[in-house]
Amino acid sequence: MKTVLVQNIGVLATAQGKSAHSGEKQGEIAQLKDAWVLIEDGVIAKVGTGAAPEAAETIDAGGNLVTPGLVDAHTHLIFGGWRQNELGLKLHGASYLDIQNAGGGIQSTTNATRGASEEELAAKAEKALDEMLRFGTTTCEAKSGYGLATEHELKELRVIRDLNARHPIDLVATFMGAHLVPAEYKENREEYVRLVCEEMLPLVKEQGIAEFCDVFCEADTFTVEESRRILEAGLKYGLRPKIHADEIEAIGGSRLAGELRAISAEHLIVCPKEGIESMAKGGTIACLLPATSFNLGAVFAPARDMVSAGVPVAMATDFNPGSCPCLNMQFVINLGCLKYKLTPEEVLTAVTLNAAAAIDRADKVGTVEPGKLGDLVIWDAPDLDYICYRVGSNLARTVIKKGAVV
Ligand code: NIG
Ligand code: FE
Repeated sequence: MKTVLVQNIGVLATAQGKSAHSGEKQGEIAQLKDAWVLIEDGVIAKVGTGAAPEAAETIDAGGNLVTPGLVDAHTHLIFGGWRQNELGLKLHGASYLDIQNAGGGIQSTTNATRGASEEELAAKAEKALDEMLRFGTTTCEAKSGYGLATEHELKELRVIRDLNARHPIDLVATFMGAHLVPAEYKENREEYVRLVCEEMLPLVKEQGIAEFCDVFCEADTFTVEESRRILEAGLKYGLRPKIHADEIEAIGGSRLAGELRAISAEHLIVCPKEGIESMAKGGTIACLLPATSFNLGAVFAPARDMVSAGVPVAMATDFNPGSCPCLNMQFVINLGCLKYKLTPEEVLTAVTLNAAAAIDRADKVGTVEPGKLGDLVIWDAPDLDYICYRVGSNLARTVIKKGAVV
């Protein structure tokens, strides 16, 4: 058995438990001073303070803050090309949907993704994963959704599967064939919805290459009724629902999320009161993406109202080439405090335990407790407030995945 001791921890800050925390509990964080963590074969065996046990290998935290590894619960990791050309259009007043309706946006990334080989997509995504790891992310969700054709959606999911096998970051795959109705189906959207439900989903299930089914429920994208059909078809094939809802217009996506008892609803920038109530009732986690609001120049989701209503709040990057070319969870942490007005404790729960719960991994990661994976970040920081308040630096000093420095 390989034992690793992380010792000389100034403060160990972690939520506790194996399920999402909401309301007051979201802000309950254990803060152990002068702590140590013993990891056996990649799994946390013991956590304590004061005199530490012996171990084959020791990692000195230097009296710094240690937290669980960060969980990025929402990314569009696999894509061809970038879209820096849209910056100028936006600066001249074009909206996200203007660009999308003019053939830019998701469709242009789809064209680039269809033209890329599996190897090219993997090499590009691997570079992003390396960078994420350096910023403290140790578990990451990744969606398909830039293939928008059976062959290319499956290609994206295979890239996620292969990267998961070879990269230290653990990946969790989501099928998002319903990201946009692609250009060739514009006049026949019904046929595209049928393709997603009757051709893509059965193959995703057969190949066992995704756990969740996500839909972009938005004006000019998929209606509430189309989203319902697709997510119900996903459920039939064993994929739990996620839903991009209320990102630009509140057309009813958050209400649908609660009705379907979706594991999470994403964005929720303009989420109305009845959407929050529906999610609270359905046990849906609000997966908020503040770096997207920042990049779109949009308002920020009503995170405090969600906490007050008892909806567990998670936060993620939404890393993608359009609405959020940012993969840095530390920036998300900053925005969680500065824009959502969440406390540092609520923010830590949002990017660890609640994020893990949003991808059904709260039994394995998201807290520093016996039985969970030995995924830790040693910060160049004395306490939790410090990482929330410092902006623009990479404060992750050492990242540990399954007990190994990565
Ligand atoms: O979450 N909203 C839909 N999907 C992404 C954006 C994708 C893109 O612009 O390429 C998002 O914001
Ligand atoms: Fe997204």
